[in-house]
Amino acid sequence: MTLRSLVTGGAGFIGSHLCEALIARGDDVVAFDDLSTGVASNLDALTGNSKFRLQIGDVLEAHAVNDAVSGVDRVYHLAAAVGVKLVMEQPISTIVTNTRGTENVLAACAQNSTRVLITSSSEVYGKMGSAQTKPLAESDDWRLGATATRRWSYACTKALDEFLALGYHDQRALPVVIARLFNTVGPRQRANYGMVIPAFVQAAKAGRPLIVHGDGTQSRCFNHVADTIDVLVRLMECSAAIGHVVNVGNDQEITIGELAAKIVAKCASQSPITHLPYGEVYGVGFEDMERRTPDLTKVRGLLGAVRTRSIDETLARLVTLE
Ligand SMILES: NC(=O)c1ccc[n+]([C@@H]2O[C@H](COP(=O)([O-])OP(=O)(O)OC[C@H]3O[C@@H](n4cnc5c(N)ncnc54)[C@H](O)[C@@H]3O)[C@@H](O)[C@H]2O)c1
Repeated sequence: MTLRSLVTGGAGFIGSHLCEALIARGDDVVAFDDLSTGVASNLDALTGNSKFRLQIGDVLEAHAVNDAVSGVDRVYHLAAAVGVKLVMEQPISTIVTNTRGTENVLAACAQNSTRVLITSSSEVYGKMGSAQTKPLAESDDWRLGATATRRWSYACTKALDEFLALGYHDQRALPVVIARLFNTVGPRQRANYGMVIPAFVQAAKAGRPLIVHGDGTQSRCFNHVADTIDVLVRLMECSAAIGHVVNVGNDQEITIGELAAKIVAKCASQSPITHLPYGEVYGVGFEDMERRTPDLTKVRGLLGAVRTRSIDETLARLVTLE
């Protein structure tokens, strides 16, 4: 049976790769996107494919969402205001898009009994990463900073999305899977919203300084987008994942200082690596976490083996593409 899939945020970085993967397995696919941070050219590879359509639309418009959801078998909800920079600059639209937009999607799916996967974020762990002595598991507590510290609003919207999704599952029997994504990287990720790898690669290639925020000892784990997509598609079809929050990411850590040095070397660049205090980047009071490593026990328990390619493998291809 051919599945009909709707991908909200389908013109974005992860969404466009997901559309390609779904088309490759034979689905009929509609990408639903308002092109606020996504671009139609991300979907160039699918232009002219009779099984694919890009629908320009806003997840804040409930009628449009309802129309898009009715008649499809699967909904992947990726549309969101994403990236720390965007959150810092546009708090109102971020909060509204990420909460009301998700509510519209969940309500439409509940009305149509449509299986849906929503993309949450490792941001919901908040400061837990700072005191992290072990990888972060889905059942761990979360700890956000004061509401006056704007960066936590993004985490809060994604946590609220998770509560809503679980509520729809419990109260309205909605078949929903919640994928809590950790850093995902790959082709088409754009630098302008504060994403570190595209920013570093572009700077290294242009011979500009790579600007490391803070002292660079903070570590992150980067998952290649193809590995993220593989897990999202498998989770959607995994009945045991319904009603669950599941970490999706890579558990190999690298410090941001090491990452900058690696990128300079891989680009054979002469760029210097400089440091900028967080306060000068995002304003006084900005908080970041030292570590953020996922515990992948749950996803492996549900799906079996999941691929997590190394940062060297991920960067090798990226530096030739950017
Ligand atoms: N990239 C990561 O590392 C990462 C990490 C954690 C979670 N996520 C989640 O994955 C999802 C996709 O993120 P991404 O990195 O591809 O970001 P992205 O900005 O490239 O994609 C988001 C897409 O949503 C669209 N969009 C925004 N507001 C919309 C609206 N009101 N109506 C319709 N479309 C709208 C944008 O135009 C864009 O195409 C998001 O939900 C994000 O929170 C991503």
